[in-house]
Amino acid sequence: MDMLTIQGGTPLRGTVRVEGAKNAALPIMAACLVVRGQVQLAQVPDLVDVATMTQLLQSLGCVINRTKTQTATIDADSANRSFADYELVRRMRASICVLGPLLARFGKAQVSLPGGCNIGHRPIDLHLKGLAALGADLRIENGYVVATATRLRGADVELGGPSGSTVTGTCNVMVAAALAKGRTTIRSAACEPEVVDLGNFLNAAGAQISGLGTSVVEISGVESLQGVTHTILPDRIEAATFAIAAAATRGNILIPNARTEDLTSVIDALRVMGVRIVSSSAGLEVSCHSELQPVDIVAMPYPGIPTDTQAQFMACLCTVQGVSKVRDAVFPDRFMHAAELLRMGANLQRHGDLTVVHGGQRLTGASVMASDLRASAALVIAGLAATDQTTVRRIYHLDRGYARLEEKLTALGAPVSRVPDSSNTADVQPPHFKLQKRSERTIL
Ligand code: EPU
Repeated sequence: MDMLTIQGGTPLRGTVRVEGAKNAALPIMAACLVVRGQVQLAQVPDLVDVATMTQLLQSLGCVINRTKTQTATIDADSANRSFADYELVRRMRASICVLGPLLARFGKAQVSLPGGCNIGHRPIDLHLKGLAALGADLRIENGYVVATATRLRGADVELGGPSGSTVTGTCNVMVAAALAKGRTTIRSAACEPEVVDLGNFLNAAGAQISGLGTSVVEISGVESLQGVTHTILPDRIEAATFAIAAAATRGNILIPNARTEDLTSVIDALRVMGVRIVSSSAGLEVSCHSELQPVDIVAMPYPGIPTDTQAQFMACLCTVQGVSKVRDAVFPDRFMHAAELLRMGANLQRHGDLTVVHGGQRLTGASVMASDLRASAALVIAGLAATDQTTVRRIYHLDRGYARLEEKLTALGAPVSRVPDSSNTADVQPPHFKLQKRSERTIL
């Protein structure tokens, strides 16, 4: 297992490109199960989660070739299994994205339930509700979702839950409905750009989907989908992570391929903090010219501030004089990073789904442990802003969603290196990983 060592205190400067979006690549790869002929995907990020999805699809009989140029060809004509094994699904929750495609392709699917997660309660009831509305018969047996359907039929599907819509649930229902008989209306559909990218991919393959990017998506089922070439959209979460890292180090960076339109709420929050953001044909330029101000952050479904940037914002706000509040309305328990930030000298108080940041004191380098993907990114940002050296352990979480992060940060002038972690803490789950209940009022 590797760890990252970060020598903090250097403002990030330079140009950095982001990869294709992980959260678009994964459901699109899964959707290839329902396409006849070869699919060619460009800008497929080189990530552990993509490797896991590749293995999962191969285990179902798909033929996949990846090149070094971030292209993948996926041929699902030979797919002959509808069983997604726990051993693969437990590594990555996004494996649930094969449920809708398998059901549409084979009329049956057996997919392991993804199990526990470090960012909080993550049920799949809305996925099941949506597929049941299309006529699937679903039951849970021995830790697996067992689904069957003689022929999926279009229906009116409501996907709103207590925390809004569901991103991968919308993906599952959209793929299944694309091949169902008749017309489907998904209400309270997720509007995230990654869902839109999946819809664009399906439409290019012959599907008839409209309303993408709105909360009402209409789908007219078609008989079949054909092979197509598609480029995965740039990763808005990676772009936001670099923008926030630039703010935390008071740096100046350019992200040439960031899609400004996908980042409006993140850009707004950074501007309120006093960060200068210029969007032009050259890309997104992020720079700091004055003292930064505190800001209140509420993570919400798109177009709100993404929950996948909440941890990074918190790390950055620790460096800003004054009181900021960070709330996560999507995953109210997603605050594992806070306990590690405290070890770096942050002053944080947690009250249920709200963490109050008393920022301004200089963070100090420490040995910290990553608990999930975005928490890892937050610890890296804190390390970049801190004095002395920070060591981020358990970076396999980071490798799930950020490709060559240490190389990119080094190119931006930050001394970051990946080194083997020989300590026996690498595999041990620390006691503070215990989730706190939403209602619990806890001072960290
Ligand atoms: N929810 C339900 N029932 C369901 C599904 C979800 O109540 O059946 C709730 C969840 O508990 C949560 C909210 O709805 O409170 C949103 O969950 P959602 O289903 O949208 O999350 P997801 O589809 O499992 C995707 C991303 C996550 C990202 C969330 C929210 C992928 C592969 N994953 O997860 O990305 O945080 O949407 O935007 O697209 C990450 O990249 O680090 C990551 C965790």
